[in-house]
Amino acid sequence: MKFFAALSVVASIASLAAAQGVAILSPPAQSTFAPGDKFVVDIDRHDSLTPSKELSVAIGLLNCAQQQPDSSATCDGIDLTQGLGSVLYAGPYTPQVRPGGDDLFQNFTVQVPEGFPAGPALLSVTHFALVGAVSWPMLQILNETVNISQ
Ligand SMILES: *[C@@H]1O[C@H](CO)[C@@H](O)[C@H](O)[C@H]1NC(C)=O
Ligand SMILES: *[C@@H]1O[C@H](CO)[C@@H](O)[C@H](O)[C@H]1NC(C)=O
Repeated sequence: MKFFAALSVVASIASLAAAQGVAILSPPAQSTFAPGDKFVVDIDRHDSLTPSKELSVAIGLLNCAQQQPDSSATCDGIDLTQGLGSVLYAGPYTPQVRPGGDDLFQNFTVQVPEGFPAGPALLSVTHFALVGAVSWPMLQILNETVNISQ
């Protein structure tokens, strides 16, 4: 019985995460930016019926080659829980209804730091919210690969 109860908790947490999670709508993966460039990170959330309290997001940019033992220019196998790299934004997430849409969103204008190394980099969004009547603490780390030019 305990086993089945645990399973159903896992299942409902997974469905909460799916319903309350965010997505990176912009920039598209494989976008190219130069050091000093500004760009918009559009963080989207479904407007769900489950009560949830949005707390915060952190947007990170991590050069991939520096994380690889052989300095290879790939972002495979990097563990973002060990570090997000340069923090481009960290603070409140207060999404608003998207004009003409059903979702909630917030745009963050961020900047590639001067001197950021060229090559593939992981753009990450870490999202923290309290979900449902039990205030389940949800921490979500999303990523996509972008290219930093010289
Ligand atoms: C990046 O996100 C994908 C899913 O979109 C996941 O499979 C991958 O493990 C993540 N990479 C890192 C470095 O967290
Ligand atoms: C938010 O960013 C997206 C993607 O860049 C853009 O299409 C949209 O117009 C922006 N919305 C606002 C209100 O600035």
